[in-house]
Amino acid sequence: MTFIVHISDFHIGEGDFNEDVFFNSVDTVNDLDPDFIIFTGDLTNRGYHAEYVKAIEYVKFFKSMFFSIPGNHDARNLGYETFQKLIGERSWAQTLNSNDKDNIKLQYDDSLKEKCMLKDNGKKKWSKNDRISKCLVDVSNITLIGLDSSEPDISDGSVGRPQQLWMEEILTDSYINSTFSIVAIHHHVLPIPKTGRERNILFDAGDILKSLTDLDVNMVLSGHKHVPYLWKVENTLFATAGSFSSFKLRGSCPNSFNTYEIKEDYIEAILKPYRKEDILLGRYKF
Ligand SMILES: [Fe+2]
Ligand SMILES: [Fe+2]
Repeated sequence: MTFIVHISDFHIGEGDFNEDVFFNSVDTVNDLDPDFIIFTGDLTNRGYHAEYVKAIEYVKFFKSMFFSIPGNHDARNLGYETFQKLIGERSWAQTLNSNDKDNIKLQYDDSLKEKCMLKDNGKKKWSKNDRISKCLVDVSNITLIGLDSSEPDISDGSVGRPQQLWMEEILTDSYINSTFSIVAIHHHVLPIPKTGRERNILFDAGDILKSLTDLDVNMVLSGHKHVPYLWKVENTLFATAGSFSSFKLRGSCPNSFNTYEIKEDYIEAILKPYRKEDILLGRYKF
């Protein structure tokens, strides 16, 4: 069994960050003792260097392994460069073994990009008709990909063709080896109910949705809209987390985070609203 905590949208900085909620929720997460934590962006409120420096101190309070991608707020004011300097690669892939916690890190770099471009121009292209569904998923080996969907100083996002091809390359391996696969991306690939007019979107959502569902990704984790939700499209679960610690909330939707229990034959997703009862988001069989 693998137990994951999915958190998002801290918005550390002046104005929108609720420090009390942050520290109380950190205690809740640490008590849960997850195998790892996936953070899906908007670590800072404006991408300022000083906000990143502060954010690093806050993140140190989490006791479990912590994976992070940038959000649109992190890419403001040259924040996309600061993220890379102070936090790490903006896009990355990991192979995680939940038994021994060994992991291999694969960074998105230009040589991989070129390799993928060659593939795109060459013969082998994945086609949905070539596939059969993953029937026996190896949940002790997890392929985890972090995708940077942020664009400097705008709220919309995109993955972009080179990064999409890089992701497809890794997901094809995961598909062939039947490993459990997770993609983390800040912007929502599918619209989220109760978030008003559709804006601040992923420009290439349709192309990314096709890659993710064609390659039978098990879970896609996002943040951005500050409203938790779960969609299932074909064999893929699209889970969005609410804001962990920001005042930027919609209606009566509280701060929250999600947990996922991944067992041999099912995933159970739970919503943890701040100081409220847990809510079962769904239980899905493979
Ligand atoms: Fe946000
Ligand atoms: Fe965002």
